[in-house]
Amino acid sequence: MGLLPFFYCLYHVVALWFGYEGKLGADPGKELVRFNGQCALVFLLLTQVLTPLKEVTGFNLVSIRRILGLFCFLYASLHFTAYLLLLLEFRFSELSDDLVKRPYISVGFAAFILLLPLAITSNNWMVARFRGRWKTLHKLVYPALFLALLHLIWLTKNDYSLTLIYVVIGLILLLVRAWRSFLKT
Ligand code: HEM
Repeated sequence: MGLLPFFYCLYHVVALWFGYEGKLGADPGKELVRFNGQCALVFLLLTQVLTPLKEVTGFNLVSIRRILGLFCFLYASLHFTAYLLLLLEFRFSELSDDLVKRPYISVGFAAFILLLPLAITSNNWMVARFRGRWKTLHKLVYPALFLALLHLIWLTKNDYSLTLIYVVIGLILLLVRAWRSFLKT
């Protein structure tokens, strides 16, 4: 299921390659960047829903958190790759310009960098190697989510409706998490 957006994207990249713009509108490159960004954020939010869901309803899906996190990273990587390939056409000097001059790009990039160690350490070998420190390392997901939401707020120009939905859900999940760790101390 988690790979369906990937195949949707692959289809459109191949179609674009052969000069077919299909249903992606006037700027298919940007649409693909946006699509992958949305997928990354949705999977990131899903990783954070599982614990409250278990506590409130007893429905335990915590075992799929790691795979949801890896899907988040897959789509964040595709999002970044699509931006580099389809928007910048691999002009790396423009990437450094964007990182300096466009705050939403720097914030998105910072979120991506925070997700990187989480993806690298999401396998049994790394969990065993890191032991107690693994959980501490994986707390990076909270600043990553916060930065991803900030990235979204910063880049939204006209229609704030979808952004508002993501931001409200994301902030509620972050507050719930902060409240739970406050109760533990
Ligand atoms: C390498 C770092 C990143 C770069 C360079 C980047 C760049 C971009 C760009 C250029 C856009 C389109 C802006 C526009 O419409 O004018 C965008 C949109 C978006 N990005 Fe990122 N991004 C990055 C990381 C992330 C991460 C880590 C997430 C989420 C986990 C994310 C989520 C989104 C979302 C949800 C959108 C909006 C999609 C929409 O408008 O429907 N981005 N990003």
